[in-house]
Amino acid sequence: MRFFLAYAVISVSVAFGAVANDQQDTAVGLFPFCVNGREHCLEVLSANATAPSRTVPFGRKARLSNALLHTYTKANRASDFQRRQTSASGIPQVERTGVVQVFDDSNESIGYVSVTTEDGAIYRVDSALMNAAIVTVSSQATSASGTGLRVSVTGSDISARYPLLGLVQGRDNVDANIGFGSYHYLYLAGVALPGTSPQDSPTIIDNSYNDATELSLAAETDLWEINFSTGTMTTTWVNTNGTPENTVLFVQDGIIYAGGDMDAFANEYSGSSVTGITLKFVF
Ligand SMILES: *[C@@H]1O[C@H](CO)[C@@H](O)[C@H](O)[C@H]1NC(C)=O
Ligand SMILES: *[C@@H]1O[C@H](CO)[C@@H](O)[C@H](O)[C@H]1NC(C)=O
Ligand SMILES: *[C@@H]1O[C@H](CO)[C@@H](O)[C@H](O)[C@H]1NC(C)=O
Repeated sequence: MRFFLAYAVISVSVAFGAVANDQQDTAVGLFPFCVNGREHCLEVLSANATAPSRTVPFGRKARLSNALLHTYTKANRASDFQRRQTSASGIPQVERTGVVQVFDDSNESIGYVSVTTEDGAIYRVDSALMNAAIVTVSSQATSASGTGLRVSVTGSDISARYPLLGLVQGRDNVDANIGFGSYHYLYLAGVALPGTSPQDSPTIIDNSYNDATELSLAAETDLWEINFSTGTMTTTWVNTNGTPENTVLFVQDGIIYAGGDMDAFANEYSGSSVTGITLKFVF
C-alpha cells in the first residue's frame, strides 16, 4: 500500500511539478527504506543522524526516576511541585511538574511518554513509570484548565536544545496541514526555543526530528490543552491557513503521532497496527 502510494506521489509530482511541494519530492526520494508499510524506518534515521548519541547516562536517568517515585509516595505531592510565580502581566502563575500517562482506546493505561525516545528525535511510550519523561507546565494559578499551553520536558534523551514538547510535520506529508480524510500526520518531538505562540501557523523552527534527519519540517509548541482537575491533556494543531484542526493522537510501533484522521494514517501505513491514545498529565 505504502509502496504504491509512494509511486503515486512521485507520479503526481512529475505531472504537476509546478504545484508539488519540493520537500515531499525530497522525502520520498531520500527515504526508500520507509516504503514498508510503517511510518518509521530506523535505518534512515540511524544512517543519517549526524549528531552524537544523546542517550541519557544511566545515573541521570536513575536520579530522575527516584525523584519522581519519591513524589508519588507523598500525600501532598502536587503542592510540593507547584512553584508560584507572577508573570510580567501581574497574573499569578503556577508551574506544575509531572509525567504524561498514555491510555489506549479502551482507556487502559499503556504507560508514559518516555525518556527514551526514537533516536533522540521522536517521543515514544514506555510502560514503566520509572522511564517517564519529566514535564513542566505553567498556567495561570486561578485557572482550572488552560489552552494554548506550553509544555517543557526537563528529563528525556532528546537534546536539551529542544526543550519544548511540540508537534512536527510528518516526513511524508505533502504540506504542513492535517485534516479528516488525510493520512497527514505529526510527530511528538522536542522543539527549540522560542517555540511558537498559541494559534500560530506551522513554523519551520529547529526541532529534534529535523536535527536527526536534516529535513526542514514545520512545528508548533503552544498547542496543549489541560484540564487540571482530571489531567486530561489534548492538543490542537493549527493549519497553514490559521484554522485549528481537530487533532487526535495515536501510536504505531511505540512511536507517538498526531493527525487529523487516524484511520487514514493506518490505511496509508498498514504494515503495523495503529492504536488511538489519550494523554493524562499526572502531577
Ligand atoms: C540518508 O542516508 C542514505 C544512505 O546513507 C542516503 O542515501 C540518503 O541520501 C540520506 N538521506 C538524507 C536525508 O540525508
Ligand atoms: C479513563 O481512566 C481514567 C483513570 O483510570 C479515569 O480517570 C477517566 O475518567 C477514564 N476516562 C474515560 C473516558 O473513561
Ligand atoms: C474538567 O473535566 C471535568 C470532568 O470531565 C469537567 O467536569 C470540568 O468542567 C472540566 N473543567 C474545565 C475547566 O474544563
